[in-house]
Amino acid sequence: MSEAAELVANSLELVAERIGDPAPQVFARLFAEFPDAEERFARDVTGAVRGEMLAMVFGVLMDPDGPYQANLVKTERVNHDGFGTPSHEFDRFFDIVRDTCREALGVEWTDAFDAAWTRQIATVLAVTK
Ligand code: HEM
Repeated sequence: MSEAAELVANSLELVAERIGDPAPQVFARLFAEFPDAEERFARDVTGAVRGEMLAMVFGVLMDPDGPYQANLVKTERVNHDGFGTPSHEFDRFFDIVRDTCREALGVEWTDAFDAAWTRQIATVLAVTK
């Protein structure tokens, strides 16, 4: 694992310790930014689809150069465009997840975490377009 990937993993462990599953906060932030998106999750009564979406983001941020991860995200990018989430909105989700983690950790969020997330997100975007 690269140093940046390890830092992302460390920050996620801390988030889990502090707030447990960050999904509710992540999706609250998503729906605040894209209110139209909320009704598109109406069929996801159990939260399983939301969980899958978040798990894919964590997976690719921790291994952006893995060919498997990049291909999955590439496929989702195309699928999402088909159901009403254009590429530039799709990309925003990575920032939304980072911002949620930053807020959850407060003073425990370090410059090193910030730099690692920024770097990993840039890599993901570069390898999945
Ligand atoms: C603003 C950004 C995004 C919006 C509004 C959005 C919206 C959605 C919606 C509405 C669904 C449910 C589709 C259904 O009816 O089954 C969904 C599913 C999913 N999303 Fe996203 N999404 C976003 C970004 C992302 C990103 C960045 C990833 C991964 C890198 C991702 C991965 C997934 C996966 C894995 C599923 C479940 C499987 C599938 O239905 O394809 N999404 N997303």
